[in-house]
Amino acid sequence: MTATAGIPLVNAWNEWDTLREVVVGSADGACFEPTEPGNRPQVRRHKGAQFPTGRKSAEAVARANEELNGLARLLESRAVTVRRPGPHDFSRPLRTPHFDVENQYCAVCPRDVLITLGNEIVEATMSRRARYFEYEPYRHLVYEYWEADPRVGWTVAPKPTMSDAMYRQDFWEWPIEERHRRMHASEFCVGQTEVVFDAADMSRFGRDILVQESMTTNRAGIRWLKRTLEPKGFRVHPVHFPLDYFPSHIDCTFVPLRPGLILANPDRPISQDELSMFTDNGWELIQAPEPVLTNDEMPPYCQSSKWLSMNVLSLSPSTVICEEQEKSLQDLLADQGFEVLTVPFRNVFEYGGSLHCATWDIRRDGTREDYFP
Ligand code: ARG
Repeated sequence: MTATAGIPLVNAWNEWDTLREVVVGSADGACFEPTEPGNRPQVRRHKGAQFPTGRKSAEAVARANEELNGLARLLESRAVTVRRPGPHDFSRPLRTPHFDVENQYCAVCPRDVLITLGNEIVEATMSRRARYFEYEPYRHLVYEYWEADPRVGWTVAPKPTMSDAMYRQDFWEWPIEERHRRMHASEFCVGQTEVVFDAADMSRFGRDILVQESMTTNRAGIRWLKRTLEPKGFRVHPVHFPLDYFPSHIDCTFVPLRPGLILANPDRPISQDELSMFTDNGWELIQAPEPVLTNDEMPPYCQSSKWLSMNVLSLSPSTVICEEQEKSLQDLLADQGFEVLTVPFRNVFEYGGSLHCATWDIRRDGTREDYFP
């Protein structure tokens, strides 16, 4: 691969400009997410049941891969170049100077690990032990882009220790009133002593980057992003959704679709003072309709909420990909003037995400705009 004179090989300034190249995740070798200080996976509808460990079944992997491959085919039919992660032994336990973990997770959700900010690739610190080395299945791609085009930047965030002391384990036991109170102080399962963030807590709006404070991104993480990105001309805005008691990853909560339009989660409104940035600049928020599945109907090993329904992937400011069964969302988007493409994706849900999570955009058209002058 060699660089073309025009647009850099790596170029994405927002979530909606016309998509040219993207990484689609893979379920190959996927394991169950282990119980660890930053994660207490539960079997849905069976609170207290032992959560499985080790490899996912060959059938579960095949079902997810079929849908991931279907997404890849749809993208290719729309002239988008699709790249895939390389192999990785997720069943291998990890031991660092600070922790042991029994197995790793998967390469289904590149969105969580990597983000393209303009012409730069940023590898997140990650917030869970099982995901410490999750950048590895994508490194061959990072090297390829970086070698092929001198305009491509590459920044790796400082790795936290992920030692016991980094976490606040009692978080998992807080009664609801306590949760409510601490929520407003934005205290979750990660403390503030180290820099911690997952890439999927960010959302790109040209010069402006939103970062959700969450179970997977702390204030030190946001400070690091601010100090790293602001000298490069970005503005970093911490955002909060005070009714989400277990916030993690912004793309089922606040989803920009095109300049001026956001798909918002009706259960998780953005905090009032953070809303004004949008309303003052003429942005409209439309509420996502009720998802087809209830939380109880989500797959048993899925740790995400029913709001995976709104985890759509934009092909352009006028075309969006939606999960095949989410009819009311498809209708809403069509009413807004979008061309809506659909793919089945429910078998990917238990790997922590839907269409946006399972992708990482490498190149979109467009350049850095100021949508909030
Ligand atoms: N925490 C979100 C929810 O349950 C799921 C976010 C998934 N996003 C991702 N990039 N993996 O609603």
